[in-house]
Amino acid sequence: MIKSSEYQKRRKQLMRSAGEGSIIIVRAAPERIRNNDVMYPYRQRSDFLYLCGLREPGAMLVLAPEKRGGKAVMFCRERDPKREMWDGPMVGTEGAVAEYGMDEAYSIEQAEQRLPEMLQDRERIYYDLGQDHHFDQELIGWVSELKGKPRRKFQAPDEIIGLDHMLHDMRLYKSRAELGVMRQSARVAAEAHCRAMQVCRPGMTEGQIHAELLHTFTAHHCETSYLPIVGGGANACVLHYIANRDELADGDLLLIDAGAEYDGYASDITRTFPVNGKYSGPQRALYELVLAAQLEAIDHARAGRQWDDVHMAAVRVLTRGMLDLGILKGDFDQAIEEETYKQFYVHNTGHWLGLDVHDVGEYQIDGHSRELEPGMVLTVEPGLYIHPDERSVRKQWRGIGIRIEDDIVVTRDEPEVLSKGVPKTVAEIESLMAA
Ligand code: GLY
Ligand code: MN
Ligand code: MN
Repeated sequence: MIKSSEYQKRRKQLMRSAGEGSIIIVRAAPERIRNNDVMYPYRQRSDFLYLCGLREPGAMLVLAPEKRGGKAVMFCRERDPKREMWDGPMVGTEGAVAEYGMDEAYSIEQAEQRLPEMLQDRERIYYDLGQDHHFDQELIGWVSELKGKPRRKFQAPDEIIGLDHMLHDMRLYKSRAELGVMRQSARVAAEAHCRAMQVCRPGMTEGQIHAELLHTFTAHHCETSYLPIVGGGANACVLHYIANRDELADGDLLLIDAGAEYDGYASDITRTFPVNGKYSGPQRALYELVLAAQLEAIDHARAGRQWDDVHMAAVRVLTRGMLDLGILKGDFDQAIEEETYKQFYVHNTGHWLGLDVHDVGEYQIDGHSRELEPGMVLTVEPGLYIHPDERSVRKQWRGIGIRIEDDIVVTRDEPEVLSKGVPKTVAEIESLMAA
């Protein structure tokens, strides 16, 4: 759980960065209609969640920095007994102050009148345009109205600046409490992967395994942080495979890429294991190569290293291994230089992880790969994917897709593997599946 005091600290930090004379606006995510009066499951906008923890739609957070500190104002839906009868308890303006630590709270309907007043004497508005066309127009309208007032005695805002740069840099460095939540998110996902390994048998379907994952997530107060990928055999070579319907064949591998979302924070884990519990010779050879690449890449996820170092560490091991196995031809330096490894390893080795599965934060600064620092969380997920029709390799390799993905915290010391609860060596996986 992230405490109210931590949300308050984040808001203060953001207001300090924005500075006096600015005003910050962050809107809750809109509800989305699935059809008629049925909505998609609601997920709060991560920036909004990060700054206040409120999970309701129809809300807007306004931060008004002052010389010292500043004011947090929430516009939200008033409690409504009729609506609560259908949808359950609402926070309301009183709850926004009492439970969410706001300095002031007003009904969302009042924003139209109060927000323009709040914009007076502010030089800069921090707000991410492009998420809500209607509100963008409204905001620009208020600004031009203020600027056009005759003989005005107040300053009107001169610019609307994107908030993402400042806020997303804050989100990149995880606090102790955030890491606690992310550990739990990874623990639950790890348990789901273990369960999948334990129940998997030839003849089951990908859908049945998918259901087992959901069982563990739901039982532990989690949702999925993205649609799980459950791909048997060559389906594993389709990077975003989500159909999850086919039967699992004896002798095939199964790739599962599934993560939980706990208290808003994502985990993202991939394991690839044999449907019948035993890797074949070629499967094992490729698996151990991907594992070696992953371990080497994780070892590079250290403070002071660069983002690209992690990827290149994996690329070097994979390339050397593919040359040794005869999957790639030619010489090592040439394969790296000409990027021939991309024939079988197309994606990057990871991404930031946090409230979003592909979390926010820059990967480059001033055109250079970013230096890793303590508190950053990233995935490390090398893979190899050999299409079933790939004629350039021996038959035994065709149709094998393997990825191994863990969630890593950069620390002052050794990299912390949040997802260590799910086995990944051949011996560990075969023994769990045999048990
Ligand atoms: N599950 C999405 C990814 O691994 O990036
Ligand atoms: Mn990932
Ligand atoms: Mn993944």
